[in-house]
Amino acid sequence: MSDLPAIEGGKPTRLTPLRFKPWITDEDINLVIDVLRSGQLSAIGGKWNTLLEQELTKYLGTKYAATVSNGTAALHVALKAIGIGPGDEVITTPFTFAASATTILHSNAIPTFADIDRETLNIDPASIERAITDRTKAIVVVHLAGYPAEMDEIMKIARERGLYVIEDTAQALGAIYRGKMVGSIGHVGTLSFYPTKTITTGEGGAVVTSDDEIASKARLIRSHGETGKYYYELLGYNYRMTEFQAALGYSQLRRIEEIIKRKENFAKVLMEELQDIENDIIQFPHPRPYIRHAWHLFQVLLSLERLRANRDRIVEALRAEGIEATTVAYPIPLHKEPVIINMMGHGKGCPWTCPFYGRKVTYNPLPNAEWAAERVVTILIGPLYTAEDAVDTARAIKRVLNYYRK
Ligand SMILES: Cc1ncc(COP(=O)(O)O)c(C=O)c1O
Repeated sequence: MSDLPAIEGGKPTRLTPLRFKPWITDEDINLVIDVLRSGQLSAIGGKWNTLLEQELTKYLGTKYAATVSNGTAALHVALKAIGIGPGDEVITTPFTFAASATTILHSNAIPTFADIDRETLNIDPASIERAITDRTKAIVVVHLAGYPAEMDEIMKIARERGLYVIEDTAQALGAIYRGKMVGSIGHVGTLSFYPTKTITTGEGGAVVTSDDEIASKARLIRSHGETGKYYYELLGYNYRMTEFQAALGYSQLRRIEEIIKRKENFAKVLMEELQDIENDIIQFPHPRPYIRHAWHLFQVLLSLERLRANRDRIVEALRAEGIEATTVAYPIPLHKEPVIINMMGHGKGCPWTCPFYGRKVTYNPLPNAEWAAERVVTILIGPLYTAEDAVDTARAIKRVLNYYRK
């Protein structure tokens, strides 16, 4: 094969593109059909929601789980359940999906940001310390790409400063930090079951906790704050999950370890195959010995100074090679997104202009997040990929990067 990349006129590495697809078995399908036939499509405390919740608590080792309609709703519920509201600041990472911060705005509170660690791309505990003010009430920790954040250090800070910790585990269900399931370490954890996530229900999510009060509040907030028939004690939402979604989640959760093993195999082969260009034109986060990575995403960081093409050209070139699972997570760190810097929120500037806040927040540069956003290339890892897919992905990456090498 010629070494000319497909984007420059060469033949693509893959004739059948590598695309992400969730792993849906006949068993999954049959169970969903059975639920549809039963006519019980949605119910608080329905059979399948209850079963999925029970299995999640067993898997994660938490006392409670409450299913919700998606991972964004899970974050909103978690923030409200720990009492976040007007006048509060919540620290999160700027290098994440928007929902980690926009749900803080949905809760009428102010998102503030700590910088990330360049090696793991997760929130840096030392930067959290610097971001804490007398208004800070909580930290939303994201286990980015499936890589657990440094929870021991974060929990120590939280204990010393009296803060709540929400673990946004949308990307990391199944990841382990020093023997503990990620999502079960902070005061409350949130999950997403979007199709690209470890297990899927199409749209879906859950709030997990071992705290009695947070659990009972979360259950109420999930469903209109209703404590009796048409009796509403709290401001709640309709964030319920349907029964057929819960049945799909239950069926998927039964083979979660197999899903993670498959993704791990893909990542291992990919890392081996990329060894000869690692620390030369790329670097990537390696799992530390005390963690299990859930391998949602494979994050590649380009050595831009050694390349004569920018990141977006490299992404286009990889897609042209047939590696269509290539994306960028994330091109703009959240402290630079219009929704944050324009400070409009709910209109007329709330919550930033809220009199309960009565301050002015400035979103300062965060050099590590900006560095990562400029050079990251993401391969979305699917449970159906094979070792050959990993070899092809590495070949495509090497072909493109060697061609654009200075
Ligand atoms: C880190 C993170 N948090 C929250 C979410 C929101 O989850 P959902 O898409 O299920 O609302 C996502 C989804 O991509 C995510 O990646």
